[in-house]
Order: sequence, then structure tokens, then C-alpha cells
Amino acid sequence: MDYVRIAGTGLRASRIALGTWAIGGWMWGGTDEERSIATIRAAVAQGVNLIDTAPVYGFGASEEIVGRAVAAIGGREKLLLSTKCTLDWKDGRVFRNGSRERILREVEDSLRRLKTDWIDIYFIHWPDCRRGVAEAAKTLRGLYEAGTIRAIGVSNFTPDQMRVFAEESPLHLCQPPYNLFERGIENGVQGWCERSGMTLMTYGALCRGLLSGRMTMERTFSGDDLRQADPKFQAPRRARYLAAAARLSELARTRYGKSLAAFSVRWVLERGVPITIWGGRTPEQMAPLAEVFGWSMDLATLSAVDGILAEEVPETVGAEFMAPPTGLEA
Ligand SMILES: NC(=O)c1ccc[n+]([C@@H]2O[C@H](COP(=O)([O-])OP(=O)(O)OC[C@H]3O[C@@H](n4cnc5c(N)ncnc54)[C@H](OP(=O)(O)O)[C@@H]3O)[C@@H](O)[C@H]2O)c1
Repeated sequence: MDYVRIAGTGLRASRIALGTWAIGGWMWGGTDEERSIATIRAAVAQGVNLIDTAPVYGFGASEEIVGRAVAAIGGREKLLLSTKCTLDWKDGRVFRNGSRERILREVEDSLRRLKTDWIDIYFIHWPDCRRGVAEAAKTLRGLYEAGTIRAIGVSNFTPDQMRVFAEESPLHLCQPPYNLFERGIENGVQGWCERSGMTLMTYGALCRGLLSGRMTMERTFSGDDLRQADPKFQAPRRARYLAAAARLSELARTRYGKSLAAFSVRWVLERGVPITIWGGRTPEQMAPLAEVFGWSMDLATLSAVDGILAEEVPETVGAEFMAPPTGLEA
């Protein structure tokens, strides 16, 4: 495992963070607490020291499982916990709420569920576009100055929204989607973060499993699994994305003897991203983590990747389908 310092903070994070959305069950077809805790243990055993969660992942379930796992592992001060705020829910419906009142209630709920006195990285999960982001920025600045949170991040923000936020508050990290199939941040967000001295911590490195090397045309999704609504998993797109994945897998194997999962995560790191999140919910899914480090991609490989993507998926579709409603629907 490699580690990086998060600029403007005293935090040193593993370059792979464990993502625990699937562990919460909601939109991933259910949860299994014992396996989830074993997954967190497996990630930590591989050197992962940063665990990403959010209140909305299972409406508290993911944070509670993370809290129990960290208590069982011990050494809270050696681990970094990142969680989020501003997604509210009512009767199972999720909507954005960036009010000061909501954030102050959420932070208390997160501290309790995570069984901790502080949060290492606190993200605005999605910008509350109708309210604007200044109110949330001022609220997070207060929590930062009080020592309740040790770093401030935003997720799914545009450069303009980050600019407004940064006028009111320190801003250390940005969490947008980024993987071989979803490269939207190359058109502005990545450059803005680099110029502003912010640390990128991207999500979806395996594109919800499309780049895991295990996804098939036959795989079906049950219950509330978000992949039932993910445009990439529908016909005829899934076939195109899997054709690209098969060629990328062959490239990874012949050039470096690596799995597609490790190759895909390495590619994100090679593109200048300091920290990427690996989502998983079984200990076995953590096995390829070690394969990501100790090598790098040459320019010919990066160019071969671009060639495969241009040929197989010339018309890409982004991660926008995940965006929750923007209004104050409560
Ligand atoms: N800030 C945001 O708005 C936001 C949005 C999305 C995600 N995130 C964060 O980023 C994390 C990761 O994103 P993600 O979970 O959407 O996607 P991801 O990391 O691209 O994909 C995770 C999925 O890939 C599959 N997988 C992982 N390792 C595997 C392996 N070794 N072999 C086979 N399959 C494997 C699993 O699917 P199966 O469950 O099918 O096995 C897993 O649930 C989340 O957990 C969350 O912490 C943040």
C-alpha cells in the first residue's frame, strides 16, 4: 500500500480507501453484517487506513457497521474515517438538504453511529443547488474550527460550486466519480482541484463492478440494486462496456500480468489521482488490492487504453443517474 498526505491537514491516507456504500445494503440489494465487518478487517489488513461511509448508505446502517468494525479492530486513532452530510430522507426517498440545522444534527448522528469523538474527513455529499452551498460551507468551517472534523471535502461539486464554497471555508478534498468509463472530471474538476491545492479522492474506480473482471451479460440485480437503473448495465450498452472490459483485461494480463480490477484502479492512480475508493462487501473482493502497487503503466499502455475505449464505447454515458433530487422536498 502507498500513502499520501492530504494537503493542508496533518492526515496521511492510504491511496486506496475502502468504500462502504454496498456494505450499508441500500441500493445494493441488502447487507450482511458479519461479512461486512470481515471485509473491513481484510482491507485494513492490506494497509487501508481510510474508510469512506455516509449516513444515507443504508440510512445509518453503513456508519453503524463501520463503527462496530473499528471498535472491534481497535486503534481508532490509526484509522481515518470519512463520512458525509446534506442528504436527507423521508419514507425511503432521498433528497438534498444543506441547511445548517440538518448538518448539525447529522454530524451528531454520525459521531454516535461511528462511536467516535471526531470525523477525519467530512464531505458535503451533494450540493444543495436550491439553497446554495455557502450555508453548508460556513457550518463545516465551524465544525472544523471546533475540532469535530479534521478536514473538509465536497463531493459531486462543479468548479463554480467549489469556488463559492472556498470563499467561506477551508476546502481540502473533492470526491467526484472517476474510472476508465467515467472520465468527466478531466473536463474541469481535476484541473481546478490541482490548481487549488486540493486532494482528489475519487469514487467508483470499478464502475460499480463493470471493471471488476467478474461482470457478465447474464448477471441480474435484485431488490433495490442501483444497477437495475444504471444506464451502463442496460442493453445494448452493457455489451459494449463488457467488450471494452474484455479487451482491457487482456491488455492488463499480457502487459503486466494483472487482473482487470487492479489494472483499473492503477489507471486511476496513474492519472494523477492521489486517493481512490474501492467499494466492496466481501473479504475476497479485497484480495486484488495488493496487485495495484509496485508497478506503473507506460505511455504506450495508456495510449492503448484510450484506443480501446474510443473503439468500443465511442458514446459514453456518465454517472449522472445517481444524482438525488435537488429540491427541499421535506
Ligand atoms: N460521493 C458519492 O456521491 C459517492 C457515490 C458512489 C460511491 N461513493 C463511494 O465510493 C465507494 C465505491 O464506489 P462504488 O461502490 O459505487 O463502486 P466501485 O468501487 O466502482 O464498485 C464496487 C463494486 O464492485 C464489485 N467489486 C469490488 N471488488 C470486486 C472484486 N475484487 N471482484 C469482483 N467484484 C468486485 C462489487 O460489486 P458486487 O456488490 O456486485 O459484488 C462492489 O460492490 C462507495 O462504497 C462509496 O464509499 C461515493
